[in-house]
Parts: sequence; structure tokens; C-alpha cells
Amino acid sequence: MKYPGGKGKTYQHVINLMPPHRVYIETHVGGGAVLRHKLPAARSIAIDADDRVIAHWRAMALPGVELVHGRAEDFLARHPFEGDELVYVDPPYHPETRRQTRIYRHEYGAADHEALLALLATLPCRVIVSGYAHPVYDALLRGWRTTEFRAKTHTDVRTETLWFNFEPPEILHDSRHRGTTFRERQTNKRRLERLQERIHAMDPVERAAFRQWLDTTYPAAQRGGVSAVP
Ligand SMILES: C[S@@+](CC[C@H](N)C(=O)[O-])C[C@H]1O[C@@H](n2cnc3c(N)ncnc32)[C@H](O)[C@@H]1O
Repeated sequence: MKYPGGKGKTYQHVINLMPPHRVYIETHVGGGAVLRHKLPAARSIAIDADDRVIAHWRAMALPGVELVHGRAEDFLARHPFEGDELVYVDPPYHPETRRQTRIYRHEYGAADHEALLALLATLPCRVIVSGYAHPVYDALLRGWRTTEFRAKTHTDVRTETLWFNFEPPEILHDSRHRGTTFRERQTNKRRLERLQERIHAMDPVERAAFRQWLDTTYPAAQRGGVSAVP
């Protein structure tokens, strides 16, 4: 399934920003490139207002993904958050940043964006939002951090923004896509593989010594895990 704004080629940027989480919630899931490429969470929830999108996901039968047919806003307003969720929101683009009009079956006007962003600002968990820069995001997500990446569209290359309400993570939920370009990701992957090969090749005593050094230098507390928002 292809969508304008689909993350088929840019999902790495979003995954590289994700701290460890127990529950993953992706609203406006569409083709769900991010959801399909990340390591699963203990619980994953995908939401879309379009019944055809949900039917497509049911046909794919992704194990462990709970599908919700409905409006993202309704789901988020009612969900009993515990703090260890990560919500990823990729709404249809704001009408004023769009180069084509009417591209989705379920349209999203300026008022819809305002209501969504106001709601996201109140969520008691970690949230990532993607889209094109627009003053309403700056106003309603005040104090959030941002990062940008360039992405090809049908016609040209545009800068997409990710807004997020937490410190950039030192530990990632899924570190397999580290790097900002294809080349960088390939280099990172090879470097890690070489390191792993060297550790495999150690004799057991040397490996144990290495492990002891690792444990004392980087105690378990620093290695992290899933934590709720403070
Ligand atoms: C920007 S796309 C999502 C792109 C997606 N991240 C991908 O990688 O393909 C828009 C999706 O939002 C859905 N949508 C529109 N309004 C919605 C709403 N109020 N709640 C949930 N989903 C909505 C549309 O049905 C469509 O599937």
C-alpha cells in the first residue's frame, strides 16, 4: 500500500529516534512502513480511520499487532496510558503545506490538526510526530524537540520534521537502522558484525574477562531498558 507521505524509504529516521518502549501505538497507520520495519514491542496497536486500510492489515495478519478502526483522536483520548508507551503519529499533511489538494480518502483540515496536536501535547508518554514544518506545530508542540530529514516526494525533495517530547535516546528500541544515509547504515552494520565476530572468536576465558570489563565499565543501570516517563 502506497500513500502520499508514506514512510517506505524514510522509516529509518523515525526508528532511530525511538527509546525502548513496552507498548507501541501508531495512529494514521496507512501502509505502516515504520510499524513493519521496527522490532515489535510487547504490545503494538495500529489505528486508521479508513476501513480499507484496516482490512488490508487484517489480510496481512501481522502477528501481535492489534488493529483499531477509528479516529486516532478518539483512541488517544480514551486509552489508559501507563507512561511506558511510545506513540508515533504521521497524520495526513497539513493542508497549507500540501502541493496537491484532496489526496486521501479521509481528509484532515487545519482544525483537525489543531485538535490532534493539542491532544498530543497532553499525553503522559513519549510521542513522535512527523510532518512538514508549519506554525501550528510550533505553537501547539511548544518545548518539543525537532529533527529534520530530506525525503523524495513524487515531484521533488522536501524537508520533513520529526517533533518529539523526550530527550534524544542513548539507547534505541531497535538499533539495526542506525545511520542517516544508506552508506552510513551499511558501515555501522559491518563494524558491528566485525566486532561480534571478534567476540565469537575469543576463547571462553578471554570472553569472560571481556564481559567482566564490560559489566564494570557499563553497569546494568546505564544500559537501560523500558522506563516510563518521569
Ligand atoms: C499520512 S498517511 C499515513 C502514512 C503512513 N505512515 C505510511 O507510512 O504509509 C494517512 C493515513 O491517515 C488515515 N487517517 C486520516 N484521518 C484519520 C484519523 N482521524 N484517525 C486515524 N487515521 C486517519 C488515512 O486513512 C490514511 O491511511
